[in-house]
Amino acid sequence: MPQQVRGVIARSKGAPVELVDITIPDPGPREVVVDIQACGVCHTDLTYRDGGINDEYPFLLGHEAAGVVESVGAGVTAVAPGDFVVLNWRAVCGECRACRRGRPWYCFDTHNAAQKMTLADGTELTPALGIGAFADKTLVHEGQCTKVDPSSDPAVVGLLGCGVMAGMGAAMNTGNVSRGDSVAVIGCGGVGDAAIAGARLAGASTIIAIDRDAKKLQWATDLGATHTINASEGDVVSAVQELTGGFGADVVIDAVGRPETWKQAFYARDLAGTVVLVGVPTPEMTLEMPLVDFFSRGGSLKSSWYGDCLPERDIPMLVDLYQQGRLPLELFVSERITLDAVEQAFATMHAGEVLRSVVIL
Ligand SMILES: NC(=O)c1ccc[n+]([C@@H]2O[C@H](COP(=O)([O-])OP(=O)(O)OC[C@H]3O[C@@H](n4cnc5c(N)ncnc54)[C@H](O)[C@@H]3O)[C@@H](O)[C@H]2O)c1
Ligand SMILES: [Zn+2]
Ligand SMILES: [Zn+2]
Repeated sequence: MPQQVRGVIARSKGAPVELVDITIPDPGPREVVVDIQACGVCHTDLTYRDGGINDEYPFLLGHEAAGVVESVGAGVTAVAPGDFVVLNWRAVCGECRACRRGRPWYCFDTHNAAQKMTLADGTELTPALGIGAFADKTLVHEGQCTKVDPSSDPAVVGLLGCGVMAGMGAAMNTGNVSRGDSVAVIGCGGVGDAAIAGARLAGASTIIAIDRDAKKLQWATDLGATHTINASEGDVVSAVQELTGGFGADVVIDAVGRPETWKQAFYARDLAGTVVLVGVPTPEMTLEMPLVDFFSRGGSLKSSWYGDCLPERDIPMLVDLYQQGRLPLELFVSERITLDAVEQAFATMHAGEVLRSVVIL
């Protein structure tokens, strides 16, 4: 029997989100209904609300979530009712060109549920990133469920479903940070701070946090930064060079995604160093730079999509490290809120007051 539950939707461009009744179909082949326990508020939810992703309104928002599998459809083997899972938006297909070349983190045919969740009047919903977890329950593909230790706090481990994974993976997977490296991270929100935590786990010896907000620099220090630079107080590039023996950092991660921060990342590297762009620029942003600088400075210039993660490989590993006390993931949970407070949480996020607000269901 299809079920009626509560869900937070964006009905039209820029309008405040609404808490409404939605209908969840019974799971079809390879589909799973998950009873959501917690879901973080990510910048991307706000981008959906404001029309920055596409125009397929109404959206069912929320995608950084953990919960318990309630029921499964035909052919589901990955999970069973009662399993505690973190949801992901990279259920790789195994068959596209990227998957066949052994680079499944670039998979361009990832799985989502085939059936649609709807409003009470039958209008089909578009779930954010194929998840839609600001809801009591949601419908996903079995590959979007990663089983993890059920004793972990859903509010904390759910964040591995998006922003924290993106930042940690930007350092560990895309940037390939290794022991002894110097790393600088520009922008210390949830994603940048996760990059800092990832750099620490990978054994970086110098980790420089850069932000314009002193509070963010304190949080970055709590997560592993060894040095901080307040970007509003002088030249970022020379400050990074000063902290790295005059050389620049081995890896610089831009977790803001603006032309000026990317340029800082480019010039704050040591020769042949790596730039990782994980912040998401908007379509109108452009860059003008001397081409010879690209040649003479060498190195590699990369972008990081979802931290180049493989959920099945990376999420359980990070949960283990969290439970062993080697990764303070709980520091990303700034506040716990109810399902009717998502619109307020967008304002709090916009004001820079939190790393993550997490909806508890
Ligand atoms: N690549 C991916 O797969 C992926 C996944 C999730 C999020 N993101 C993106 O990562 C970016 C960061 O997300 P977030 O949740 O951490 O956002 P956030 O708003 O919490 O953090 C941004 C931080 O950057 C700082 N900042 C802004 N301008 C700055 C400047 N000029 N110099 C230094 N610091 C500056 C702000 O003070 C803030 O602390 C966003 O663009 C988001 O869309 C990317
Ligand atoms: Zn694929
Ligand atoms: Zn997200």
